[in-house]
Amino acid sequence: MATLKKISAATAALLWLAAPQHAVAVPVVSTPTTTFFPAAPTIPPDEPVTNVTSHGPYTGTPTTTGALSTDVLAPSIPALPPPPNAYDYPSDGQLHAPEPAPYTPAGGQGTNGSAPVYRVLSDFDYESIALGLYQEWIELDLFHSGLATFSDDDFEKAGLTAEDRFLIEFMADQEVGHATLLSNILGPSAPNQCTYNYPVSNVREFIDFCQKLTRFGESGVYGFLNHLDSRPVGQLLLQSISTEARQQMIFRQFEGLFPMPVWFEVGIPQSWAWTLLAPYISSCPENQTRLIWQNYPALHILNQPNPVRINGSDVWNETTGGYTNTLSTKDVPAEQDCLNSTEVGVNCSPAITNNRSAPLSYAGRQVFLEWDEPGQPIGPNNSYVTNTTANPPVFAAWVSQLNVTYSPLQNISGNSAWTIQPNTSTFAGDPAVNGTIFLVLTDEDLYVTPFNLTQLNPHVYAVGLYQAG
Ligand SMILES: *[C@@H]1O[C@H](CO)[C@@H](O)[C@H](O)[C@H]1NC(C)=O
Ligand SMILES: *[C@@H]1O[C@H](CO)[C@@H](O)[C@H](O)[C@H]1NC(C)=O
Ligand SMILES: *[C@@H]1O[C@H](CO)[C@@H](O)[C@H](O)[C@H]1NC(C)=O
Ligand SMILES: *[C@@H]1O[C@H](CO)[C@@H](O)[C@H](O)[C@H]1NC(C)=O
Ligand SMILES: *[C@@H]1O[C@H](CO)[C@@H](O)[C@H](O)[C@H]1NC(C)=O
Ligand SMILES: *[C@@H]1O[C@H](CO)[C@@H](O)[C@H](O)[C@H]1NC(C)=O
Ligand SMILES: *[C@@H]1O[C@H](CO)[C@@H](O)[C@H](O)[C@H]1NC(C)=O
Ligand SMILES: *[C@@H]1O[C@H](CO)[C@@H](O)[C@H](O)[C@H]1NC(C)=O
Ligand SMILES: *[C@@H]1O[C@H](CO)[C@@H](O)[C@H](O)[C@H]1NC(C)=O
Ligand SMILES: *[C@@H]1O[C@H](CO)[C@@H](O)[C@H](O)[C@H]1NC(C)=O
Ligand SMILES: *[C@@H]1O[C@H](CO)[C@@H](O)[C@H](O)[C@H]1NC(C)=O
Ligand SMILES: *[C@@H]1O[C@H](CO)[C@@H](O)[C@H](O)[C@H]1NC(C)=O
Repeated sequence: MATLKKISAATAALLWLAAPQHAVAVPVVSTPTTTFFPAAPTIPPDEPVTNVTSHGPYTGTPTTTGALSTDVLAPSIPALPPPPNAYDYPSDGQLHAPEPAPYTPAGGQGTNGSAPVYRVLSDFDYESIALGLYQEWIELDLFHSGLATFSDDDFEKAGLTAEDRFLIEFMADQEVGHATLLSNILGPSAPNQCTYNYPVSNVREFIDFCQKLTRFGESGVYGFLNHLDSRPVGQLLLQSISTEARQQMIFRQFEGLFPMPVWFEVGIPQSWAWTLLAPYISSCPENQTRLIWQNYPALHILNQPNPVRINGSDVWNETTGGYTNTLSTKDVPAEQDCLNSTEVGVNCSPAITNNRSAPLSYAGRQVFLEWDEPGQPIGPNNSYVTNTTANPPVFAAWVSQLNVTYSPLQNISGNSAWTIQPNTSTFAGDPAVNGTIFLVLTDEDLYVTPFNLTQLNPHVYAVGLYQAG
């Protein structure tokens, strides 16, 4: 129980007065006392964090070993019909079983009173949480490094004040908590913090990279959360990732974008998240725990919409590279930059929300693509290798909200092609393709839904992020 170190004289008097006078009105105390000092409970230590001081690409000799693996039983998981009993429960609003206790409906998992254990239960759990931890570590370093690299003046020029910078600092602190939580779940073999290489050279590129990195961090977790064997672990991860979701939205606001142009947030397979994360890790410490996940080749979006432009879709080859396809400000002339415009619908200063009268993209837009070949070293110490088991791609899969929509690749010539941004909705009134979405190339237009999206993996050739809105 908390220790009350001091009770003020006024409060003591009140308690004394109140006791014999139950029936009459007790004087209303409208100014709460601030003289209680409960002792803090034991505070668990943070995972030790060292500020990464060096950034840049890995220059050592690649010690290529590829992803962690063991005996592989089959090239893919066969698609099966729904499990038996899937349609048995009537879903009619009536109760169909005795209640285990008052106000307690029958069913649910982890509801029978057995003590929850916050521990991974399978390779699936371990590899997924370890991936999440790699993500938390990069975010921690990224947020710090942006604050350390760019001056206050640089931030001010991008419209970001000292209070905004404190929010970024606070987000970095949140990552310390998340990294500590996931490290504690995994135990001593948990992956450590690495060194990183970011495709940014100014504040606006930094904010765009943060916005895109937190998008695949968030979506990467949504993709596996409900597949975890350990629901107690899932519970803790959920409570971390909902914080990450807020970070993603805040970075959109810092970028002057519409904060949430979708009705549903998308989930993606772990290998897509790892594909998008690994290129920005330059090296990890000796004996670092490795991951099982696949690194796909990069997708380059040649006319990736650029949020710093007044007409963001009127753009050619303005990214800092494939995979995240983050924006480059290098070739944007001042008169085409939306930051200093005073016009509503054009101005893109940091804000709670901005309308964009010229949308970043639209259904029917021709999108030009290029993709890399597999077999390239990538990731920490260049020790992973990009791979695909798909045939050469013939479709672009637009993965957003609840939907995977395929558009055929046109004019395929070597490793380039174009395609048309589809017109598709989740429900009436909600165009599915909006926000920061996932664009992957596939050899087949396989039907997949949010809970079995990973079934697409054997057909994926290249992975990128598309800035739809
Ligand atoms: C890391 O850098 C932050 C400022 O960016 C500073 O507050 C913190 O003390 C540093 N931590 C260590 C362990 O040096
Ligand atoms: C994915 O799930 C849907 C049902 O939601 C099913 O129709 C489809 O066949 C499944 N796809 C694969 C490849 O398993
Ligand atoms: C309670 O549920 C757990 C699974 O969540 C199960 O392992 C355990 O056997 C159950 N306990 C009882 C008493 O039914
Ligand atoms: C990666 O490279 C760094 C720097 O050369 C080295 O210290 C580290 O041991 C390497 N890590 C692994 C896992 O080989
Ligand atoms: C790495 O593992 C080897 C073998 O277990 C061990 O001898 C070495 O001390 C470890 N290095 C570090 C930095 O932990
Ligand atoms: C923006 O650019 C696109 C592509 O060049 C063009 O089709 C569109 O009309 C432009 N929109 C505005 C509002 O100027
Ligand atoms: C895009 O720009 C890069 C340099 O910034 C250049 O190397 C590359 O060839 C360009 N690609 C296309 C398709 O124009
Ligand atoms: C915006 O205005 C500020 C202050 O007037 C100026 O320093 C900056 O260069 C301008 N930026 C652009 C992109 O025009
Ligand atoms: C913002 O955009 C919405 C949807 O296009 C429109 O209804 C609204 O009038 C716009 N508001 C302003 C202030 O431009
Ligand atoms: C995305 O949403 C914004 C805000 O509602 C809207 O202005 C824009 O047209 C949408 N973009 C697409 C591609 O639907
Ligand atoms: C991709 O992985 C498969 C299965 O491990 C392997 O057979 C194939 O050689 C790899 N391809 C490349 C290009 O490394
Ligand atoms: C997108 O997903 C929603 C929810 O599953 C579904 O109702 C809708 O039909 C899908 N849209 C398309 C074009 O397939």
